[in-house]
Amino acid sequence: MTNGFCVTSAANYHILENTDLTTPSAPPATIVVAGATGDLGFRIAQELRKRGAIVRALVRPGNTKPAIASLREQGVGILEVDFNDVAALTYACAGAACVVSALSGLREVIIDAQTHLLDAAVAAGVPRFIPSDFSIDFTKLPEGSNRNLDLRREFGHRLDQAPIRATSILNGMFMDLLTGQAPVVLFKIRRVLYWGSADQPLDFTTIANTAAFTAAAALDATTPRYLRIAGETATIRDLQAAANAATGQRFGRLRAGGLWLLRLLIRVTRRLMPAPNDVFPPWQGMQYLHNMFTGLPKFASLDNNRYPEINWTSVREVLAARQ
Ligand SMILES: NC(=O)c1ccc[n+]([C@@H]2O[C@H](COP(=O)([O-])OP(=O)(O)OC[C@H]3O[C@@H](n4cnc5c(N)ncnc54)[C@H](OP(=O)(O)O)[C@@H]3O)[C@@H](O)[C@H]2O)c1
Repeated sequence: MTNGFCVTSAANYHILENTDLTTPSAPPATIVVAGATGDLGFRIAQELRKRGAIVRALVRPGNTKPAIASLREQGVGILEVDFNDVAALTYACAGAACVVSALSGLREVIIDAQTHLLDAAVAAGVPRFIPSDFSIDFTKLPEGSNRNLDLRREFGHRLDQAPIRATSILNGMFMDLLTGQAPVVLFKIRRVLYWGSADQPLDFTTIANTAAFTAAAALDATTPRYLRIAGETATIRDLQAAANAATGQRFGRLRAGGLWLLRLLIRVTRRLMPAPNDVFPPWQGMQYLHNMFTGLPKFASLDNNRYPEINWTSVREVLAARQ
């Protein structure tokens, strides 16, 4: 251990030979990834390696997840760092072209840990920072309408004050959630459940597409403050058609009520099952759906074509691949 962090595999800092560099003559960029033991962060690290980047994953001390061995096998450098130790984080960020955060959590993560990471990136002279936003367009949502997205907006204000170039990737809802976690396509009763209008367009992107796009953006020094992507923008009627096509069965629509009723249910659920320390309690998912059904966070334009090598996965494909 030195200075509060531990380099568990110094050899892994060095890029593997014969890696496929996007620009053969350019030296490989070093990208720091926080949250690489998580679902999205792991895939971002993988996609960065595919693009020839040197990847440094910052992990909490004592993390024994199998993801770490897998990252190491892929040539990712693993650094154990205390996310409260800005000096250690600064050392860990040295020489990087971009810091990517795919951390997930509440205030102590999205505000506290990410602020330490931001301070470290600035202190280390890293030119670019990608925060863990990965959501619907919270810049258009009123304060108080979604707890988790309020935290991202609050961190965004800090980011905008910092002397570093920031890029947020906004991807709508993870499309993968449609096969289970998000109660929209109800396979057992063959219904598509919704609130409000069946004609409201909703943005969806797979976790894999989001990771590929984020990796490309991390290696692109010309990115703007926000990039918006959607593998598919679909209404409830479109989801119904996708479910029919994917399963060969006929799905109906089930309108649970107006948006006012969903808002009321959120309030009641939050009162009865507050779970204040859960990142995604049921009422949080309901807030997300409510936001989407209002149409407010709908993307006005998309940056999908920025990296033409990405093939966008459709809702039908995701539903068809469901086990
Ligand atoms: N748009 C959508 O529909 C949607 C859906 C889901 C997630 N997301 C977003 O995608 C991003 C990544 O989420 P995910 O699902 O990949 O998360 P995840 O699988 O839960 O992974 C979270 C990562 O954050 C790390 N972490 C958590 N608390 C930490 C702390 N206090 N200090 C340091 N590291 C910490 C975890 O490390 P350990 O291994 O040490 O625990 C892990 O690497 C988040 O912004 C999340 O909100 C978006």
